[in-house]
Amino acid sequence: MSDKKTGKFIVFEGLDGSGKTKHINLLKKHLVARGRRVYVTAEPTNSQLGGMLRDALSGITQRSPGEMAALFVLDRIFHNVNPVSGINKMLSDGYDVICDRYYYSSLAYQGSETDFDWVFSMNINCPEIRRPDLCIFLDLDPEICIERLRGRAITDIYETKEKLEKYRAAYFRVFDLLGDRVVIVNTADDIEVAAREVAEAADAICK
Ligand code: TYD
Repeated sequence: MSDKKTGKFIVFEGLDGSGKTKHINLLKKHLVARGRRVYVTAEPTNSQLGGMLRDALSGITQRSPGEMAALFVLDRIFHNVNPVSGINKMLSDGYDVICDRYYYSSLAYQGSETDFDWVFSMNINCPEIRRPDLCIFLDLDPEICIERLRGRAITDIYETKEKLEKYRAAYFRVFDLLGDRVVIVNTADDIEVAAREVAEAADAICK
């Protein structure tokens, strides 16, 4: 029997511009300083499917809401099971896996654009899509998100204030429905305060 300890699977969610990249880096530093091994990953992935999704997100190709939902699921399955650097493989090698977006994004975004129950079922009833140990939702007023996004060269098809408002409300409905372990951290104010809350949430599961 192997005595290798399985890592923890932590997902960051939040609207575009809510500070995920910054807080993922800070949490990685925190966990590494505690002597843990950490692997950071993101969805859409770097696979061919991820490329198709990024083309659709930037508007280079047109995709229907159903196509987007199905492509995200396919990309997510690949993300779980790919034997080289998939989530399952990294966890079983003892890494804590921190993932920038996961099925909560599909439920909030695609679930708002097409049939919610279908999107829910494809993701939550899929035996090859693992449930995270923890989801950290970085909460920020959509208006501030849009302000922060203005400085960016590239925006995507979901980044309007009206849409972000809709997705934020959807996220909260999804959290209620799922009953996953979700910690909500407000990122409007002091970054150090938010980073401490994130670290505490992770420490509670990374013993
Ligand atoms: P990206 O610029 O890669 O990352 P972020 O905005 O998180 O910094 O954008 C990813 C986009 O993809 C974002 O608008 C949300 C969207 N998305 C979905 O709609 N459904 C999903 O399942 C995932 C993973 C992402």
